[in-house]
Amino acid sequence: MMNDLKNQDAPKTTLVLGFESSCDETGVALVEMSQGQTPQLLAHALHSQIEMHQAYGGVVPELASRDHIRRVLPLTKEVLANGGRSLSQVDVIAFTQGPGLAGALLVGAGVACSMAAALKIPVLGVHHLEGHLLSSFLSADPPEFPFVALLVSGGHTQLMRVDGVGHYVLLGESIDAAAGEAFDKSAKLMGLSYPGGPALAALAEQGDAKAFALPRPLLHSGNLDFSFAGLKTAVLVQSQKMVANAPSGNSTVRSENLASGATPGFENLPLQERANLAASTQAAITDILVKKTLTALNESGLKRLVVAGGVGANQSLRLQLNAQCALRGVRVHYPELHLCTDNGAMIAMAAAMRLQSGLQKASSDYAFNVKPRWSLQSLGLN
Ligand code: KG4
Ligand code: ZN
Repeated sequence: MMNDLKNQDAPKTTLVLGFESSCDETGVALVEMSQGQTPQLLAHALHSQIEMHQAYGGVVPELASRDHIRRVLPLTKEVLANGGRSLSQVDVIAFTQGPGLAGALLVGAGVACSMAAALKIPVLGVHHLEGHLLSSFLSADPPEFPFVALLVSGGHTQLMRVDGVGHYVLLGESIDAAAGEAFDKSAKLMGLSYPGGPALAALAEQGDAKAFALPRPLLHSGNLDFSFAGLKTAVLVQSQKMVANAPSGNSTVRSENLASGATPGFENLPLQERANLAASTQAAITDILVKKTLTALNESGLKRLVVAGGVGANQSLRLQLNAQCALRGVRVHYPELHLCTDNGAMIAMAAAMRLQSGLQKASSDYAFNVKPRWSLQSLGLN
């Protein structure tokens, strides 16, 4: 389908170069596709800005944009070298068009469109969440349509019925904070460094998940919507109680704690107590995710689940979903662990799958725009 884009000898395959720059990871990847076959990842490279933002306790948008500018071309060279391809062999350039930080998105879009204009090849803007949604097609055990998808990233918590590329029906979503946000904000209260999810999960390994009875909002709401805002408040109140009940000395307020948003004195509590709160918080989040996901599977009658997005890397969530799905004869698919969080491979893959499905044509209009807010359902075809 893309073969007629270049007039010379028609290539049998289409080579897609993809850029991800929506937040704090610069990702570049090369995916090769042939008609009728799952596109193959040839190479990908990633630079995480986590260390740079850690000093600020979260992503600083302006620093993120500037760093994407510094990283994107060296990463592209690395990917082309590792994939054994030259820039002149690339047929299409894909980039994350949204949602995300406007300045960060503009870097990827600007580089993609100017490179494509210079090479006289078409471009394709990709929805970041569609990248996550389709990222398990990069794994050794790719799913088949249709399936229920649990999309759990830093900014989104959604359950979807996926009947094919572009056929996404929203079944339920968070009415306030996302699951990733609940991990990150609770971790911050516990004085753990950004991004909080992995840090909280590591601390939780040593704790007792039943130590504190934290709320599970909307658990029995009868629909597939989520709510995590109240949980964060409950963790705040619990952490303050623990400090207040501790032997004197714990409540010494360090100025860096006030600045970082950590509950003052929490870091002086015994490790076991801190781990217990982390484990109880993780259990509350994962219980909600598992319960709603099982309900979605039950209601849809589908026997296949795909978990996508950064929180999908959480081992406790994976263990619970695996156990519950095994009991119900449901196959569960995850992206490779290193492709759960943001990366370029999922963007190149989503572009290749959209092109392959005939849903979208790459464009030769290089006047790019970005969509910092963009709903996945608006991609149409439901
Ligand atoms: O999908 P992602 O990389 O970025 C967005 O598109 O938002 O997701 C990032 C989120 C963060 O909230 C991070 O704390 C969370 O995924 N996360 C985890 C784990 N690894 C990443 N949460 C819990 N456990 C983990 N192991
Ligand atoms: Zn993401």
